[in-house]
Amino acid sequence: MCGIVGYISKNANPESLHLGIEALKRLEYRGYDSAGFAFWDERKREIVSQKAVGKITSLEQKIDPRNSFFANPLILHTRWATHGGVTEKNAHPHCDCKRNIWVVHNGIIENFKILKARLEKEGHKFTSETDTEVIAHLIEKFFDGDLEEAVRKSLGYLEGTYGLAIICRDDPRKIVAARLSSPLLIGLGKDQYLVASDPSAVIAHTRKVVYLEDGEIASISPEKFVIYKEKKPEDIEWSQEQYEKAGYAHFMLKEIMEQPETLEDAMRGRLIIEEGTARLGGLQSVEKKLRQVDKIYLVACGTARHAALVGEYMIEECAGIVTKTDAASEFRYRKPILDRNSVVLAISQSGETADTLAALREAKARGILTLGITNVVGSSQARETDAGVYTRAGPEIAVASTKAFTSQLAVLALFALFLGRQRQLPLTTGESIAKELQRIPALARRILENSAHIRELAKKYQGFENFLYLGRKYNYPIAREGAHKIKETAYVHAEGCRGGEPKHCELALISENFPSICLAPNDSVYDKMISNIEEIKARKGPVIAIATEGNQDIKNLADDVIYVPETIEILAPILNIIPLQLFAYHVAVLRGCEIDFPRNLAKSVTVE
Ligand code: M6R
Repeated sequence: MCGIVGYISKNANPESLHLGIEALKRLEYRGYDSAGFAFWDERKREIVSQKAVGKITSLEQKIDPRNSFFANPLILHTRWATHGGVTEKNAHPHCDCKRNIWVVHNGIIENFKILKARLEKEGHKFTSETDTEVIAHLIEKFFDGDLEEAVRKSLGYLEGTYGLAIICRDDPRKIVAARLSSPLLIGLGKDQYLVASDPSAVIAHTRKVVYLEDGEIASISPEKFVIYKEKKPEDIEWSQEQYEKAGYAHFMLKEIMEQPETLEDAMRGRLIIEEGTARLGGLQSVEKKLRQVDKIYLVACGTARHAALVGEYMIEECAGIVTKTDAASEFRYRKPILDRNSVVLAISQSGETADTLAALREAKARGILTLGITNVVGSSQARETDAGVYTRAGPEIAVASTKAFTSQLAVLALFALFLGRQRQLPLTTGESIAKELQRIPALARRILENSAHIRELAKKYQGFENFLYLGRKYNYPIAREGAHKIKETAYVHAEGCRGGEPKHCELALISENFPSICLAPNDSVYDKMISNIEEIKARKGPVIAIATEGNQDIKNLADDVIYVPETIEILAPILNIIPLQLFAYHVAVLRGCEIDFPRNLAKSVTVE
């Protein structure tokens, strides 16, 4: 987690600090418990640094508007604490004993305690509790006038992960950047370069970027940048407007409302109706291999893992391939049983989640074919997998994932269809799934157009501190995801369960103060879900049912009903999650929560 920005220009100017701060704000979703910057002031010929606890606006407030700075080069950081509490001292940048070398870091240095003890023995004085500070002192140890060389020597001692941007008072005309398992890129602007954790920070200035690879070091001066390898600039896919709120109060709401379009984008050009299948360009190179596959391991974290759980049902039903979902954080520790006909498919919005990448690397090390579904072009996952599919959901800024989730489901449906048609799935079944997939964006739009009722329900239920979410089969992962959404946005306790499970435990919790949200669309497990709702009602638990349009009977049972349009069972999760996203959003707003940046979380979890 954490976001880092670096800036260096041919023409130092008093606007550069403001520019850097605006770029950093684009990365705030990566961490927002404290922020800081350091720069070489070209006029005053000194290093200036400032830090603040809280969001970037707190840092901004500390800048005296009467001062004008010619910040060049400049490094900035927004933090999600790992080692050391949320204090100004622990905020980045960190510096060496002589306040000569200044470092911003995204990642974790796992051997920092050993390094710190050694450096302290050698006389280095530490001022923070962070792992990052050892980097500044290591560089100090090796520095003899050439920052690049000192960085190179220091990196050899580090175990862990890093995206780094470093400046130095005694070698001030450069930023040295380095990457190992934490994303980092260089934006190539006009007469200026930016260093950043992701493209959102540079898009206002350039669409040309160079992504650093693991183990690479870059030295960036106002005139040129050198990476110790020839690299071709790539275009950023997304536009600047996509990073704006576009009139919505929050990114989360904007992203929920975008779903009809993002679903269309996820499927555009990928459905071949007459063949009842999908064409996934990113998988072409491995199509032959996929015919042999007899086991699929889906690995993901958080919301992406809920998408994987739906994918498991989809793939088993369409293609008859044994499919298993694992939390990426567990995968490499459990000794998964894989053979040469197994595939590991990672699902990640950001493509930078450390646990998911670690699972992929484990699979690669064992010689297994690795595939990925991700949203971010050029992300580590996209680079490291053998083949993959992009979700094309556009930038997702809110920490709570919404549109990326439904796009993951759409892509998983395409993948399942494709695998199914490679095998025994009949043309007619394939055709009807493909045709129904085409209708999904319009059905999603209908839910969003009639969402006022959900806000009203949020008002009614906002005061409850606990919720049980229930679903069966395809809707079990949606129950989990619904619970996940309300927990992370509204800080309300919720559990997502299989409809058949509460009688073994959770019914003990049910009372008039413990509402349940029950997913009961018209599908093969409808009657069973109705029995489960009866069981809750018999214990006086309030029930909101998510049901198929036209189902009047359910009104006699549930206290409240949210209707969703009818679709086939395999695709219902794509629609059923939308009201749950909206419900969580409105409850969170009514409870006064920080919608886009929930406490203690970050968008990209780049630490294990
Ligand atoms: O970028 P990824 O999809 O790999 O992120 C995985 C999780 O960190 C993420 O889904 C997280 O649970 C979100 N806060 C969900 O809204």
